[in-house]
Amino acid sequence: MMDTNGAAISARGLTKRFGAFAAVDAVTFEVRRGELFGVLGPNGAGKTTLTRMLTTLITPTVGEATVAGADVTRQPERVRERIGVIPQALTSDLDLTGWENVDIYGEFYGIHRRIRHQRARELLRLVGLSERAGDLVATYSGGMRRRLEIARGLIHSPEVLFLDEPTIGLDPQSRRAVWDLLEAIRGQTGLTISLTTHYMDEAEALCDRIAIVDGGKIIALGSPAELKTMVKGSDRIELEVTGESDRAVALLKQQPYALAVARDGSGQIAVTVDDGARVMPRLIATLDEAGVSVASIRLERMSLEDVFIQFTGRRLREETSRKPGFFSMSMGMPRPPGR
Ligand SMILES: Nc1ncnc2c1ncn2[C@@H]1O[C@H](COP(=O)(O)OP(=O)(O)OP(=O)(O)O)[C@@H](O)[C@H]1O
Ligand SMILES: [Mg+2]
Repeated sequence: MMDTNGAAISARGLTKRFGAFAAVDAVTFEVRRGELFGVLGPNGAGKTTLTRMLTTLITPTVGEATVAGADVTRQPERVRERIGVIPQALTSDLDLTGWENVDIYGEFYGIHRRIRHQRARELLRLVGLSERAGDLVATYSGGMRRRLEIARGLIHSPEVLFLDEPTIGLDPQSRRAVWDLLEAIRGQTGLTISLTTHYMDEAEALCDRIAIVDGGKIIALGSPAELKTMVKGSDRIELEVTGESDRAVALLKQQPYALAVARDGSGQIAVTVDDGARVMPRLIATLDEAGVSVASIRLERMSLEDVFIQFTGRRLREETSRKPGFFSMSMGMPRPPGR
């Protein structure tokens, strides 16, 4: 047994190969109890494969992992009792009502009827489906199904809840509702949440810590704030001055905090800095003292996208500008042969 220090999830050198291809490549990390942990990466990064190993659906080729104190290879049954799993595809049964979906799941786990019903009622209320619980799932929207599946995944009071792309394909409002729901259940006694996503805003909004994965490897791991500090000088202050922009540029270039100063065709000045929020007042004062007046100024905060670019030289999602339907976004990427 590996020493897990009470971690909710602990993986050491976890690897899954399909033939010679490593979909997950020697991944090592720990998730603390009570943490909301995110695995962020582009299509094909290995997020689902990693989740499937941790949830005992597939066995690792090499390496080991414990989840909720049990070994995924040697004690898969025990792991399964202690986890809730919400897979990437919608899996609630369309021919059953919302209530039945949750209730039957509880029955699988052998939860006593009275306790099961009480918990089902509470969970359906929590996910905002009390009113619709008696309706067939076939009449639900995608967002409602996702919320129902979260309720279902919690029926047996798991210690660790795994969600694979919980908001893929949902409209902005439904995504928001799922985020609110995850916020509401986080910090419930003893519950640890691990989610995968290829949405940066989702990872950033929800997660205490994020593992950025690409090509089966963790390329960076930390809190959103920590990840951003790994990239230097990516805060950008954009400003316009009234007249005298030459002088403003020359002046700004002399400032120690200005890592780079650029001016575009329209006269807008962009100053690359490390800690934009702290630098901004100093920058304004500098210009002010020199008699240059600022017409407009704004701070562009660094995004996790910048972190991803820094580590991989690529954008997290090449498709963001195209705005196709979610199916083409999630399934349109080339995959290696063998799948
Ligand atoms: N059963 C399999 N056989 C062969 N290759 C596989 C298999 N499952 C996954 N792969 C490959 O492993 C890589 C990782 O796939 P995985 O589904 O884990 O990625 P993902 O990060 O979940 O992607 P997405 O964002 O599209 O859900 C992909 O290149 C995929 O083609
Ligand atoms: Mg996936």
